[in-house]
Amino acid sequence: MNVPQNLEHYWMPYTDNRRFKKSPKMIVSAKDMYYTTSDGEEVLDGLATLWCVNAGHCRPRIVEAIREQAGKLDYASSFSLGHPLPFQVAERIAGLAPETMNHVFYTNSGSEAVDTALKIALAFHRLNGEASRTKFIGREKGYHGVNLAGISVSGVPANRHAYAGALISADHLRHTQDLGSRAFVRGCAESGADLADELENRLIPLHGAQNIAAVIVEPVSGAGGVLVPPKGYLQRLRDITARHGILLIFDEVITGFGRLGTPFAAQYFGVEPDLMTFAKAITSGTVPLGGVIASDRVYETFMNSPGAGVEFVHGYTYSGHPLACAAAMGTLDTYAEEGLLTRAAGPIASAFETGVHGLQGLPHVIDTRNLGLMGAVELAPRAGAPGARGFEAFEKCWARGVFVRPIGDCLAFCPPLIVEQQHLDQMFGAVSEVLQRLD
Ligand SMILES: Cc1ncc(COP(=O)(O)O)c(C=O)c1O
Repeated sequence: MNVPQNLEHYWMPYTDNRRFKKSPKMIVSAKDMYYTTSDGEEVLDGLATLWCVNAGHCRPRIVEAIREQAGKLDYASSFSLGHPLPFQVAERIAGLAPETMNHVFYTNSGSEAVDTALKIALAFHRLNGEASRTKFIGREKGYHGVNLAGISVSGVPANRHAYAGALISADHLRHTQDLGSRAFVRGCAESGADLADELENRLIPLHGAQNIAAVIVEPVSGAGGVLVPPKGYLQRLRDITARHGILLIFDEVITGFGRLGTPFAAQYFGVEPDLMTFAKAITSGTVPLGGVIASDRVYETFMNSPGAGVEFVHGYTYSGHPLACAAAMGTLDTYAEEGLLTRAAGPIASAFETGVHGLQGLPHVIDTRNLGLMGAVELAPRAGAPGARGFEAFEKCWARGVFVRPIGDCLAFCPPLIVEQQHLDQMFGAVSEVLQRLD
């Protein structure tokens, strides 16, 4: 069924190409919570594919919106011309975002959203007469996409090393994981907010506040292994950045659109950053779309800039693409009609938490963690072979009809927000069986 004979010409991203091409896992269709593979097997999507498909697969309103738009206005640029959809989508996003965040700049991906946010921060300070603010602070284990600015602030070592000489100026906070004192915590840990003080006690004295443009963090780290911040940590980062004139950027590429039971993680934590990135779930993964939501203060700084002309010299050919915006409209309709943006605050999230932590005590398990409908189980690495145990667990889960994502020796869980108890039973049942027998 639909398996190409020649796999040679596609250089696959973030993939061990040689391994894949020897034994391809080929998905040919998907519906709601399941993929169908080329062998005709159904596989449960336990990661909203790549933290994207929050509405589930091939949902009718989204499919129809894309179909209709393709026949009406296939492409229009947003460079000094307009078409209605990006304005309408931006109004809806602003309606979901924290109160003072009302301005949307579109990109095509999360990586572009991150680089755009960093550029907005640089330009903002320059407009305010603080051109020396050029350094960024990220965090260890943070993931901010793959563009050069994004990997500069990222804290996943493997993503950085090959490009070390080309990175922009950045330093990093320590990550918040502590397997000694904070393993197996349900939700946010009570201790650890003081890790944010490192910003004020070490990084600001070291670099000088007058040289720091912004701090960027994922409210909950996703691709670094689902690391949940301790209670009060993000508020402390907000207080410190505000005190020192440093912008705070939340990278909400995963947490945006209902992952924690609120439209954005900013609302879950009650912390308003200056800039927020989004992508992925804005279209439930169907058509590439990302962006940056700017606070009124940041936006007004650009709109009040002296002189005439382009206020922010930046933009992509496909910023505000009609098909992507149509997909966003269909997705936001689906979220609204089915109450999906708050579902991860309800009983299904408690059931998910029970499922994640039910893995505690199985062989090799050194941590289980969760927030909203995001979670992970972490396995002890095999001696001399970090990641091998996690990858084997992923493959064995796939063979049992369940897709969960290996991140080193973690397995990450992030199901579509339409997940039901029977899917959780299937997912955690398969993971549990696999872990019981894993070397
Ligand atoms: C927090 C975060 N930021 C940025 C990105 C990059 O997004 P993209 O792969 O769409 O460029 C990701 C992707 O997983 C992400 O998780």
